[in-house]
Amino acid sequence: MDVEQALLSRRSVRAFLPVEVSRGEIERLLALAARSASNSNVQPWHVHVLTGEPKRRLTAALVAAMAAGRRVAERELEYPYQPEPGAWPEPFRSRRHRFGEGLYGEALGIDRADTARRHAYHLRNYDFFGAPVGMVLTVSRHPLAGALVDAGLFLQALMLAARGAGLDTCPQASLIHFYPVLRAHLEVPPDRLIVCGLALGYADPEHVLSRHRTPREPVDGFTTFHGPTDADEEPIR
Ligand SMILES: Cc1cc2nc3c(=O)[nH]c(=O)nc-3n(C[C@H](O)[C@H](O)[C@H](O)COP(=O)(O)O)c2cc1C
Repeated sequence: MDVEQALLSRRSVRAFLPVEVSRGEIERLLALAARSASNSNVQPWHVHVLTGEPKRRLTAALVAAMAAGRRVAERELEYPYQPEPGAWPEPFRSRRHRFGEGLYGEALGIDRADTARRHAYHLRNYDFFGAPVGMVLTVSRHPLAGALVDAGLFLQALMLAARGAGLDTCPQASLIHFYPVLRAHLEVPPDRLIVCGLALGYADPEHVLSRHRTPREPVDGFTTFHGPTDADEEPIR
């Protein structure tokens, strides 16, 4: 698979087959992701890889924490990942709304008012949507902003490397709302920050979500050209 195909076929997969991924394959993907650029090559990332019983135990702890009302609110997270739901400015508020309706409404057929079913589906995050591999990505807290940029590059590289191997992924910020549970289970030291989770496995081609795709803004919506260019290549839409 070439880079363009990997980029175009990557999507957040939320339904996986119960097919294991070998240790060698996971290590190969991580070694590829580690080729990512980072500020002065500091490579601030660390990855926890969970499979089998440890993954099941973490899922149970996360679901129990959710049931006990121990989900940490946005403003109390370890780092300000995103605004509170009502505080998103435009155009992000509308895009976020469109995403929610596309996934829950159109693809899954769950009515907006059916909060119980939407919540039940959200809970699938905590078993990594049935993927055989769950990952938790952390970075050094010092220097934080740069390390978070580096972590984003690492995450994207890992997702593209997975595509090259016929695997799929879903990045998961939802996990950080249970950062105390993750810290305790994975013994994450205080000088490291939990960035997000990642589900890794083989996509279920029969699942209703296998046809779900998200739209993108056109290039001229987010690009300002300064200076002349040849205009003979059609942009990807
Ligand atoms: C850092 C990050 C965190 C995310 N967290 C979640 C999550 O917790 N649960 C989820 O289902 N999707 C999550 N996503 C997936 C986004 O919703 C998805 O990338 C976006 O809607 C675009 O769709 P696509 O990835 O299929 O192209 C996350 C994506 C990123 C980059």
